[in-house]
Amino acid sequence: MTNIHLPDIGVTMALVASLQASLPDFGRIVERFGHPAPALRKLGLMHWENGRFDTAARTFEAALSLAPEDPNLWRDLASVYSASDRDEQALTAIRTSLDLDRNSAPSWQALASIADRLDAAETAEEAYRCTIALDPKASAAHLGLGLLLFRKKHYQEALDAVRASVELDPVNGLAHFALGHLSFIVCDFAACARAFDEAARLTLELDPPTRQKRARALTFQAMIEGRVREALRDYAAIAGEDREDLDIIARDAFSVLSASGHLEAAAEIGRMRLAEQPDDPVRRYLLDAVLGRSMKAAPTDYIEHTFDQFAPQFDSRLVETLQYNAPREMAKLVAGHRSGFARMLDLGCGTGLAAADLQPLGDHLIGVDLSSGMLAQAQKRGGYGELVKAEAVAYLEAAQHRFDLVFAADSLIYFGDLAPLMRAAAGALVPGGLFALSIELAAGDGVILQPSGRFAHSLAHLEAAASDFTILETVESTIRLEAGRPVPGLYIVMARR
Ligand SMILES: C[S@@+](CC[C@H](N)C(=O)[O-])C[C@H]1O[C@@H](n2cnc3c(N)ncnc32)[C@H](O)[C@@H]1O
Repeated sequence: MTNIHLPDIGVTMALVASLQASLPDFGRIVERFGHPAPALRKLGLMHWENGRFDTAARTFEAALSLAPEDPNLWRDLASVYSASDRDEQALTAIRTSLDLDRNSAPSWQALASIADRLDAAETAEEAYRCTIALDPKASAAHLGLGLLLFRKKHYQEALDAVRASVELDPVNGLAHFALGHLSFIVCDFAACARAFDEAARLTLELDPPTRQKRARALTFQAMIEGRVREALRDYAAIAGEDREDLDIIARDAFSVLSASGHLEAAAEIGRMRLAEQPDDPVRRYLLDAVLGRSMKAAPTDYIEHTFDQFAPQFDSRLVETLQYNAPREMAKLVAGHRSGFARMLDLGCGTGLAAADLQPLGDHLIGVDLSSGMLAQAQKRGGYGELVKAEAVAYLEAAQHRFDLVFAADSLIYFGDLAPLMRAAAGALVPGGLFALSIELAAGDGVILQPSGRFAHSLAHLEAAASDFTILETVESTIRLEAGRPVPGLYIVMARR
């Protein structure tokens, strides 16, 4: 307790005497309780309520000098410290309170709020959970936990916690506001619009980005209900001065509705968009994907267009928003098998996210990608001995020198049947060379072209295609988030026989 100094008992008693002389109410409380500490506590609470935080803190400190075993006094002291930004002292005080009584829900709640303010997420999360365990009706703890999980991007759990808080305290505008944003992420658009309307009714004037989200939610919901054309027609009236470009709304509606499984609505939007630009390879391919048309791989013009456009936002979108971490995780797996590679190939290298983790594993690193936009980002990032614009299978088949590591993070998702790629990789690897790759996992035995335009593969398909390889390790993992939900995948390390 080095950062909190309680006054001497003598000093406190002198204060008590002068308060008794000057404040008759104070004297009456002392008499009623037969002890000055409760009177000091009441006085401290009064100072606190009136915003006199320093005086309140000194009064609680005085009370504690007489009753140092009172957990409630320590909690009060923690709360006024926290209100006056004395966070470290607040932490000490609330921990002392909990050492004296571990079964107090308000004290765990106070610890959670203080830790949250200090960005000590783990402590805060545990403390919110303890609060809820002791008092399941503690709406503020459910909300605090929900907001914390929201920041951690654990959207489904966050949604459950915020929903619980709204049920317990339906007049908290902030809870409805958070519910609106979370419902949008998990594509529950009807709930999103309702929650924003409730937040606006109760407390908050919605900010422009939230108003835009509400207009999108109403539009997407109407589309899900089968009114695609009407929804697009009505969008401008719903969004008013916050309206966005209608083409962007249609594009985003297509991708959100296809990702969330509303394929009929997505297909109708896809057809409308293709009719506007019949030669656009991205619109054509994605409509084919939503309609479930089978194909061997994503067409190269689709890959080029998509990733050239996406390249400048790729890193922030994938890493920060979608929690993509495959390159680092896969490089760690490879390093667990061996390092000291002479020639390494990053196949579908994209913006070069893997370079920093691959470089220490060997001498020469080559990156290959179809998209010049992505290659330009990889060039800026550095780490490659060579960067080559080429199609993956064509490059492997034509490679002059063999590799001892081929690394493909999140690029096999653009191939359907993996057999041609596996054959080409086997041909480009020295015997014993490693092939590290990731796939999105398909249920069942085969390959699925998903509405997102990405292929998911079963392990059975991969094993059949990789007959020239011995599988050394497979690790189940979340590849990234989609519509707020984790996308299940596999990291695999194989050796060329
Ligand atoms: C999702 S990104 C992953 C990029 C990078 N490997 C990473 O982990 O950040 C997929 C990349 O694969 C590339 N790609 C897809 N199909 C390809 C193909 N047939 N040949 C070469 N590159 C391809 C795309 O251009 C894109 O840069």
